[in-house]
Amino acid sequence: MDITIRAIDLGFGNTKYVSAAREGQSECAHFRSLAFFSASEKSHDGLGGRRRTVCVPVDKLFYEVGPDVELAADRFRSRTLHDDYIHTSEYRALTAGALAYMKQETIDLLVVGLPVAQYLDKRAALEKLMTGRFAIGRGRHVTVLKTLVVAQPQGALFHFAADASRLRDLKSQRSLIIDVGTRTFDWLVTQGIRVVPRMSHSVNRGVFDVVRLIAGEISREIGEDYQNLEAIDEALSGRRSLRLYQKDHDLKRYEPLVQKIADEAVSSMLQQIDHLDDFDSIVLVGGGAALFRKAVKRRLPRHVIQDVDEPMYANVRGYQLIGEEWARANPQALADARQRHAQHLGKRPSTQVAAPAATVAPGEPATNVPSDLSSAPASSAATGANSACAPGQ
Ligand SMILES: Nc1ncnc2c1ncn2[C@@H]1O[C@H](COP(=O)(O)OP(=O)(O)OP(=O)(O)O)[C@@H](O)[C@H]1O
Ligand SMILES: [Mg+2]
Repeated sequence: MDITIRAIDLGFGNTKYVSAAREGQSECAHFRSLAFFSASEKSHDGLGGRRRTVCVPVDKLFYEVGPDVELAADRFRSRTLHDDYIHTSEYRALTAGALAYMKQETIDLLVVGLPVAQYLDKRAALEKLMTGRFAIGRGRHVTVLKTLVVAQPQGALFHFAADASRLRDLKSQRSLIIDVGTRTFDWLVTQGIRVVPRMSHSVNRGVFDVVRLIAGEISREIGEDYQNLEAIDEALSGRRSLRLYQKDHDLKRYEPLVQKIADEAVSSMLQQIDHLDDFDSIVLVGGGAALFRKAVKRRLPRHVIQDVDEPMYANVRGYQLIGEEWARANPQALADARQRHAQHLGKRPSTQVAAPAATVAPGEPATNVPSDLSSAPASSAATGANSACAPGQ
């Protein structure tokens, strides 16, 4: 029986998820990390037809989430930008929304991530929160049998390394992975594929800080409180002007603000990293990569900064690969999880699970799975002595 592995990169700005996966290739999609609550279950307007959203029940309320969530924005917009994000109803609603869009009833293994600075403290709690039964609306449910939690840029590293020749190179190299998100700027220093914890961290400096500052400037210029942060964000990421009172408002004039925020983030990172000359690969990912690129290059002028296609999906694509590697190394843990679930449902279990096809080159030891990804016993070379370790170890 095939196993189903999926990944979600739930950020403060966007919820990215794997909608389909096959032999190391994944299809991804995303929606804004906005959830609008209501007392009853509804997901379409009286006028304007059906929205591409789902309405999921969480904590005695219903939360509308999905690609068209902006159309539901008929009330106060609050973003849950705080360190306890994972315990909020919104976080659960966004997770349930991503699970609903995956169109799977049962997920054997779900891979999710945390900002580097929160990884050690919150990993166990998140693993628990993400495992189990999620209501996805209209009486339907999705069950997650097992969850792995990784530090967010680890996903990008795996995605970057997925190319077989790069994986071989990376094993002997020192790399720096920088992930520019909406709220957090994360970086991971790795020696080979092992994380160097004392040099890896994250700070709360991201695209949202830029957006907020620009909103303040615009408010001053137009003489009224301008709070359409989403409009600024979209204009910035689409590199186009902001429409304001029927006129184009060029955002290029705020470039010094962008550079200032980006500089602060990069400075925080450089304070914690030594032997800069030693890095072979510096990889820039996250939806804000393009916005912060100049600042990174300015402070690291002698290095080549490497980009990836669709940098916003780099983490989630890597999570999926990590999940596939882990499944190959731990088939029994997944079989046991499925057996427990079947017993719970009162069905006869299938104890054999087929491991997914290898994504590493034949003959290549699957050493790139962090050894402490799960409490399940290590069972193969993939979790052997050469395994990468997670931050803080
Ligand atoms: N195609 C795009 N769609 C949406 N956002 C984009 C796009 N391209 C760039 N961005 C920018 O990327 C930012 C979101 O990036 P990303 O999804 O990596 O952040 P996040 O993971 O949600 O945040 P964090 O890592 O801080 O939790 C947005 O603020 C937006 O400005
Ligand atoms: Mg992110």
